[in-house]
Amino acid sequence: MRLQHVSHQFDGQLVLNNINLNVSPGECIAIVGPSGSGKSTLLYILGLLRKPEHGTFLLNERDVSDLDEEQRRLLRLHEVGFVFQQAHLIPYLTVLEQLELIQENRNVDAKELLQELGLEHRLHHLPMTLSGGEKQRVAVARALVNSPRLILADEPTASLDYENGRRVMELLSQQAHRKGRSVVVITHDERMLDVCDRVLRVIDGTLTEIRN
Ligand SMILES: Nc1ncnc2c1ncn2[C@@H]1O[C@H](COP(=O)(O)OP(=O)(O)O)[C@@H](O)[C@H]1O
Ligand SMILES: [Mg+2]
Repeated sequence: MRLQHVSHQFDGQLVLNNINLNVSPGECIAIVGPSGSGKSTLLYILGLLRKPEHGTFLLNERDVSDLDEEQRRLLRLHEVGFVFQQAHLIPYLTVLEQLELIQENRNVDAKELLQELGLEHRLHHLPMTLSGGEKQRVAVARALVNSPRLILADEPTASLDYENGRRVMELLSQQAHRKGRSVVVITHDERMLDVCDRVLRVIDGTLTEIRN
């Protein structure tokens, strides 16, 4: 995916200023930056939850900057996987049912996916019986169930201890390295950055590469 000259403002304040970003298939990048610097806004644009005011967003070589709501909804469902700080599981559905609820692609075996993420013994459990790390791994599995080519994570380890956070980060980077997906992770946790291929910082609305 590629952003070209993307700018965005809220209430006359420029939050993103001429952002250029290219994330290749197979690449996992981290985005860091102070609170309020525009990280989430950037991720919402990448996730087709927000239209960039200016500039171009190319997803799988296609210009998706100005699609209508229905086209954006379909792309979100099929091409983008989201992971947030909290798992946001539905309390009355089992682990397997959380995935089946949004599964579009019947060729993906949800059980196999959960097994890959170390959750094979939790298929029929409700969220309240899971640990924090397990809940977040269910959220990762749910993000993968429609085989999206772009995975977006906003502070996915912020509510986890180090070991569980590390495991989630490694699962996300494996999606890039083993499955050829593009993975973008916003994180405050410097201890997780080594898992990513590149690290970029947002400061005053601009994006700077700090490590590659
Ligand atoms: N929906 C919105 N309406 C108005 N201002 C917003 C909105 N969303 C974010 N902002 C502002 O944009 C700036 C960047 O926010 P955000 O992207 O959430 O930053 P970060 O995720 O880096 O903390 C902040 O000043 C925030 O107050
Ligand atoms: Mg944020």
